[in-house]
Amino acid sequence: MASEIMEKLVALCKRRGFIFQSSEIYGGLKSCWDFGPLGVELKRNVKEAWWKSMVRSRRDVVGIDCSILMHPQVWITSGHVAGFNDPMVDCKLCKARFRADKLPESECPKEKGKRPGECKGELTEPRQFNLMFKTFMGPVEDSGAAVYLRPETAQGIFVNFKNVCDTTRVKPPFGIAQQGKSFRNEIVTENFIFRSREFEQMEMEYFVPPAEADTWYAYWRQFRYDWFIGLGISTEHLRLRDHAEDELAHYSKACADLEYLYPFGWKELEGVANRTDFDLKRHSEASGRDLTWFDEESKSRYIPWVIEPAVGVDRACLAFLCEAYHEDVVEGETRVVLKLHPKLAPYKLGIFPLVKKDGLRELALEIEDSLKADFTVYYDEGGAIGRRYRRQDEIGTPFCATIDHQTKEDGTVTIRDRDTLAQHRVHRSALADFLREKTR
Ligand code: GAP
Repeated sequence: MASEIMEKLVALCKRRGFIFQSSEIYGGLKSCWDFGPLGVELKRNVKEAWWKSMVRSRRDVVGIDCSILMHPQVWITSGHVAGFNDPMVDCKLCKARFRADKLPESECPKEKGKRPGECKGELTEPRQFNLMFKTFMGPVEDSGAAVYLRPETAQGIFVNFKNVCDTTRVKPPFGIAQQGKSFRNEIVTENFIFRSREFEQMEMEYFVPPAEADTWYAYWRQFRYDWFIGLGISTEHLRLRDHAEDELAHYSKACADLEYLYPFGWKELEGVANRTDFDLKRHSEASGRDLTWFDEESKSRYIPWVIEPAVGVDRACLAFLCEAYHEDVVEGETRVVLKLHPKLAPYKLGIFPLVKKDGLRELALEIEDSLKADFTVYYDEGGAIGRRYRRQDEIGTPFCATIDHQTKEDGTVTIRDRDTLAQHRVHRSALADFLREKTR
């Protein structure tokens, strides 16, 4: 059942232009994905909703956009060069590769239903594999020119802590947020866009006085949970799971995963961590720069502690798509519908002339033009109205407006709601306000 839903969703994503395999005409590059015309709108909407909630609507958070390639010392100091490893094992028989710490969840590719090592194959001893992609800066490929593609966006924020403090009026508690690509040479990639080697992250490092760290950790855990619920994820499909002591990264005092019930099980969607003063302290020691904060009121100096909510854009898109996917029966026919929150839907409104003649096409195009600058709208004049509704349902368009002969007389159009199927008439001059209200 679960794999059937994923198969349907993957097929829909390809068929309707949400997500394609990278370099498909050459057979595809495993674990890399391209977002098509609809996917890119969905992704932008997810990122926009995050940025609005985390940066623009707050007084205490500013944004940043750092380069992907950074000084290699950053990754030595952060501990990634020495420790950003996963244990890897190979099957001596079929040569398949597995994460040694995920064997109970893995399956032998040859003998279905059996775990690696429980089949005829014998596994090698685990060995550590560093997940960072390495490349070379400049024309000479020697070790002095080696740089890494960032495996997280967070370090760009830490090394700019002083720049931001010196150039803005922030003071703890405050945050620096960033969205951008990250790269991890994962041993195993899985479940469509869930775990890939190139992905996007949305991270925020929130710098606080040490004594306030526990309070802010609790705050951000709940704030991030509420963000997903507000965008249509149901409470039955989202949970907060606290890490056990032995799961915590060496720099974390506490960490909670926001887990989503994907069709393939409960999996990490986002992490919220109390990173202590680990990163700023290490960068301060390694760079020789003072990364402390001087508190004018108490006349004391300290290294802020950091609370970090970190989420993958691709994983969030997948969760929203899984949550939205529905099949129901309308007029005796199975209807596939993506019940995406209007804020996230690639198109907000489908615009259909009832017929192409009698000036209705021109009128519909005029209405499309009047909305296009502010909303993503989709004009469709092909086929019966019922078919046109189905096409928009399948890509998650929350509303459709039909322009008919009455529109010519009194300026009203029929609005049809994707989820309730209810229809009502609205004056064309009220369409923009209607959409603004629904997508707020
Ligand atoms: N700065 C902290 C950090 O990077 P993480 O738990 O390793 O923490 C944060 O990553 C989020 O990034 C994860 O919760 C997940 O949503 C996303 N992510 C991590 N690895 C990923 C991968 N290989 N593919 C897709 N998303 C990934």
